[in-house]
Amino acid sequence: MERLQKVIAASGVTSRRKAESLILEGRVRVNGEIVTELGTKVKKGDQIEVDNVHIQRENKVYYVMNKPKRSICTLTDEFDRKTVVSLIPCVERIFPVGRLDYDTSGVLILTNDGEFANTIIHPRYHLPKTYDVLIDGILKPEQIKEMEKGILLEDGMTLPAKVRIRKKDFEHKKTKFDLTIMEGRNHQVKRMVEHFGYQVTSLHRKSIGFLKVEDLSQGDYRLLKPQEVKDLKKLAMEGK
Ligand code: URA
Repeated sequence: MERLQKVIAASGVTSRRKAESLILEGRVRVNGEIVTELGTKVKKGDQIEVDNVHIQRENKVYYVMNKPKRSICTLTDEFDRKTVVSLIPCVERIFPVGRLDYDTSGVLILTNDGEFANTIIHPRYHLPKTYDVLIDGILKPEQIKEMEKGILLEDGMTLPAKVRIRKKDFEHKKTKFDLTIMEGRNHQVKRMVEHFGYQVTSLHRKSIGFLKVEDLSQGDYRLLKPQEVKDLKKLAMEGK
């Protein structure tokens, strides 16, 4: 059973607050009866009408995509760049959970479930995210230690990160490493690297918790299994 205003809002007709006004104004019917009480609960199968128009209850959907480089995570773009949402032809109004930069590829979850999205990105919860990072310099042991302890960025200290060096190319002055962070602040990886005076030259998110996209080409996606959705929520909440 769910609150009527929540179901109306989730159907995309309007916001939850406007849905409350519609109910109070007597413009909502449940199974043919006008309902004006805000606490009213409705169940699956109840027929809901707003201004005599039936509303469709949207199924909750969860996708994981290997986000391609040169795509953006906002829903629209003033420069007409490709959006990640446009890559998944579905009727539900999905949105990305958190953001990856235009030039970042890798694991991205998309859903129409706002509550799930909040659990995954809420700063109170901590889901490990591992990035495959390439930088234009040689990362020094003391810099690795600093990342593992926490770095002071302009929005505060980062939580301890894990660093795994994959390759140091002394000839071309490049380091390739895996960086696991427990937060999802804006441009966090780039800012951590810039803290030491380097630039990220390639960034790919390899995983969010147990979720990987090794079997997906860039731009490809699949539905998450119900158990994966449950496990992601659990993992996020365990990392409180
Ligand atoms: N950190 C960044 O700097 N960019 C991303 O896209 C993701 C994490």
